[in-house]
Amino acid sequence: MPSIGARAMLRRMRAPIGVFDSGLGGLTVVRAIRAALPDEDIVYLGDTARVPYGTRSPETVVRYAASCARALLRHDVKLLVVACNTVSAVALPELASRFGIPVIGVIEAGAKAGAGISQGGRIGVLATAGTVASGAYERAIHALNPRLEVVAVPAPLFVPLAEEGWTEGAIPEGIADRYLGPLIEAQVDSIILGCTHYPLLRTTIERVLSRSAAPAQVVDSAEALAADLRLVLDEYSLRFSRRDRSGQLRVYVTDQPRSFRDVANRFLGASLGDFPVEAIDLE
Ligand code: DGL
Repeated sequence: MPSIGARAMLRRMRAPIGVFDSGLGGLTVVRAIRAALPDEDIVYLGDTARVPYGTRSPETVVRYAASCARALLRHDVKLLVVACNTVSAVALPELASRFGIPVIGVIEAGAKAGAGISQGGRIGVLATAGTVASGAYERAIHALNPRLEVVAVPAPLFVPLAEEGWTEGAIPEGIADRYLGPLIEAQVDSIILGCTHYPLLRTTIERVLSRSAAPAQVVDSAEALAADLRLVLDEYSLRFSRRDRSGQLRVYVTDQPRSFRDVANRFLGASLGDFPVEAIDLE
């Protein structure tokens, strides 16, 4: 019979991972986590009533993020993943100091992946206005190597395009062309997709880049985070492997947008199927 300590540890390992975002875009991060760690249960919270965060002040984003974190802690999550780049950019230290569980964001992972594949030392970042203004990607990249150059461009229209599912064709391509112009001109050799929504436009972004003389490589910070998460779970002895079933997903939203499931499926890259979705109020 396992000791009380061992039982408590097992209960902790079996607890779900909490993931939150300003809206449904963070399901791109859930998709990457489920691919990398299929046994883990996930509780996802999308603050759909208050999206977007990317245009708001850092103070407001910190306040909203704290209320999301508190709601997830009530579900006894073992670790918090901040899927939102804007929250990761401005609120991570605050969240990490306020709540007694490990908190990881997407910026460090994305920065590491971008710096890792850069050959020429010039890295592009596409992100929300809030993330670009925070300078968080520059700081994370310079912490790895101060000689790397960073060119960050806000790409706000990618968010509504991804929400609408309008990710291919002349209009998205024209917008991508405009946003990528300064990055192509600066001859960056890797581009970090520093926003939950942008992976949905990856094909269009890569099509535009393929027309440049030396196409930059695209890095998805969601995939980079999933790889890092495995290491963090191991570090805290929180990783759980089960044989009885695959990991479950439970979704909470603060507002039920129309055609919720269609939008969610698009970001998740799969059907939400029978996974429960509930609307909740945040304090
Ligand atoms: N989730 C946000 C991010 O990754 C994008 C949407 C928003 O502006 O809230 O920065």
